[in-house]
Amino acid sequence: MVFRIAGKVALITGAASGMGLSHAKELLRNNLKGVTLTDINETNGKKALEEIENEFGKGKAIFIQCDVTKMEEIQIAFESTLEKFGSIDILINNAGILDDLNWEREIAINLNGTINGILLGFERYLKNYKQGEEAVILNTASLAGIVQYGVAPIYSGTKSAIIGLTRSWAHPMHYQRTKVRVMAIVPGRTRTTSFELRDFLLDPVYMDMFQKREQRKLQRPEFVSNELIKILENGRNGSLWVIEKEEPAYEFLVPTKEELKRHHINC
Ligand SMILES: NC(=O)c1ccc[n+]([C@@H]2O[C@H](COP(=O)([O-])OP(=O)(O)OC[C@H]3O[C@@H](n4cnc5c(N)ncnc54)[C@H](O)[C@@H]3O)[C@@H](O)[C@H]2O)c1
Repeated sequence: MVFRIAGKVALITGAASGMGLSHAKELLRNNLKGVTLTDINETNGKKALEEIENEFGKGKAIFIQCDVTKMEEIQIAFESTLEKFGSIDILINNAGILDDLNWEREIAINLNGTINGILLGFERYLKNYKQGEEAVILNTASLAGIVQYGVAPIYSGTKSAIIGLTRSWAHPMHYQRTKVRVMAIVPGRTRTTSFELRDFLLDPVYMDMFQKREQRKLQRPEFVSNELIKILENGRNGSLWVIEKEEPAYEFLVPTKEELKRHHINC
């Protein structure tokens, strides 16, 4: 079965800036029929829509203000998508923040927000309103969720959780009944606005560590979006894709229980 971006309809959360906006543009360059940009930030959302209309013309995108922590608001975004474009094939759960100081909000957005999107997308909208035989949900984890990320442990935890959600919802039994593939991207550090903030860590000690890490070269969001197209079209259900340092995406493979047992180390 071949999944092609051309002619499909997408909904992206947190799409007013950064990677979300960049994903929307790259999808449209690949002949997407239409995209719903959703974001909590209305000012940036309207600007993003304007940018898209300037580049791709009117009628290809809509903006719906939506806080991912509120399921009813995501539902309105899905309904508006159907009303405007008639179907929904791709959901990109992208909204996220790094704010370990404000960690309850961080968990609500990164984790609960992604779950809200999946619950509505997987069980209702993508399952029932896709155009072809298959739809795709792409979640946004982070390299911080699979490596030791001492500077922001709580952020790291939210992103590790997204790996678990993705793998479990990708279970073949779920796919059989919904025909919705579930995958995740696992980006390394990427040049976007949120990560210019300086006051989101738990303590100044964490900040010192962060500033040392800051020296590394950041990849461009456009590079991530370019890799995302290939993943949406060709990635297998349940796959997790590391995208870092502007190198081609590679799969993060979790060992099976049998493989773990073969290499076990007793304590
Ligand atoms: N930039 C990086 O280095 C990096 C690396 C790995 C993963 N990520 C992840 O990529 C995703 C996109 O982040 P980005 O780097 O493009 O940052 P960004 O700040 O440019 O984009 C995040 C967007 O999410 C929106 N948002 C925040 N709270 C929201 C809410 N409650 N409901 C809806 N929208 C909300 C913001 O308004 C913003 O437009 C996030 O999930 C982030 O954790 C980023």
